Amino acid sequence: MGRGVILNYREFLPCTDATPVINLGEGDTPLVASVSLGGQLGCGELYFKLEGCNPTGSFKDRGMVFAVAKAIESGSKAIICASTGNTSASAAAYGARCGLDVIVIVPEGKIARGKFAQAIAYGANIVNIQGNFDDALKIVLALCEKHPVSLVNSINPFRIEGQKTASFEIIDVLGDAPDYLFIPVGNAGNITAYWKGFVEYHRAGKSTKKPRMMGFEAEGAAPIVKGYPVKEPKTVASAIRIGNPASWKSAVSAAAESGGLIDCVTDDEILESYQLLSTREGIFGEPASAASLAGLIKMKNTGMDFSGKKVVCVITGTGLKDPETALANSRSIINVPGDLASVEKALGWG
Ligand code: F0G
Repeated sequence: MGRGVILNYREFLPCTDATPVINLGEGDTPLVASVSLGGQLGCGELYFKLEGCNPTGSFKDRGMVFAVAKAIESGSKAIICASTGNTSASAAAYGARCGLDVIVIVPEGKIARGKFAQAIAYGANIVNIQGNFDDALKIVLALCEKHPVSLVNSINPFRIEGQKTASFEIIDVLGDAPDYLFIPVGNAGNITAYWKGFVEYHRAGKSTKKPRMMGFEAEGAAPIVKGYPVKEPKTVASAIRIGNPASWKSAVSAAAESGGLIDCVTDDEILESYQLLSTREGIFGEPASAASLAGLIKMKNTGMDFSGKKVVCVITGTGLKDPETALANSRSIINVPGDLASVEKALGWG
């Protein structure tokens, strides 16, 4: 534990002798068995992959550690990304650790508070733009053409390489691949990475099968499902508020090759799953993360049968990233004077 993904999976990564080993303790995240929802949904076994347990609270750290290592290997002194929040938090952390300049371009006011706080805390240069993630990514790509700075968005293949280690971990823990993997889709890098990981581990004889890849966009930001870019993507799940995903094609291939699909879930479905996860399983994921469970519930309701199947839902980031959404959904807060009698009365015990 705590060795980080570069040391853990070095033989599966394009490392050279000059690739530095960077480690903030990313990877080795828990694969936790469901105690409630799996049974209700008729799953043989249901697991949650808790990517919020990574050092900056999301799966991005797996890819960022490797992208930063390769940037340093190539002599880079600065990294840059566009982000809906988590990529910027992760880039800021690994950049700080390695003494690199970090530039993050983010859509003003569209980033969950916790993520913004992280980018500030780690000392990144933050540029807010009046526009959305897709605008920010375009600007970042143009900047990389003109200036000596390394791109660390998931268009960078080393991000995908690092992120594929999550599939390795699932197989290492279960002893084989699951039957289904449910995963949120935004810029579509992560579903691409997971599929690459499952294919490579299968080829290496580490699993007997590969899972069906079940990707879920948010309905108001569902370009892949619609088949065309969405100009003004809208969803409560700010992490996946993306209208023109960079890894569009590879996400479609992952779904097709695996016998899976890419579909979408509504904000209501996302928020319902977000609350089910925390209140029924004790797992506090951020809203985008709940798209995986919302997808599973949707598929169950459309008649899919998961009996006897092993199902994994990827919980991509911690709920602490987005306190506003949690607080907006607060139900039973009671305000009373600070004495025993008042508290007992409020609890119905007085
Ligand atoms: N879940 C969370 C918590 C995310 O932050 C993201 C993406 C996704 C799911 C979707 O993953 O983009 O690989 O399909 N966040 C990016 C960011 C876009 O800037 O932090 P994807």
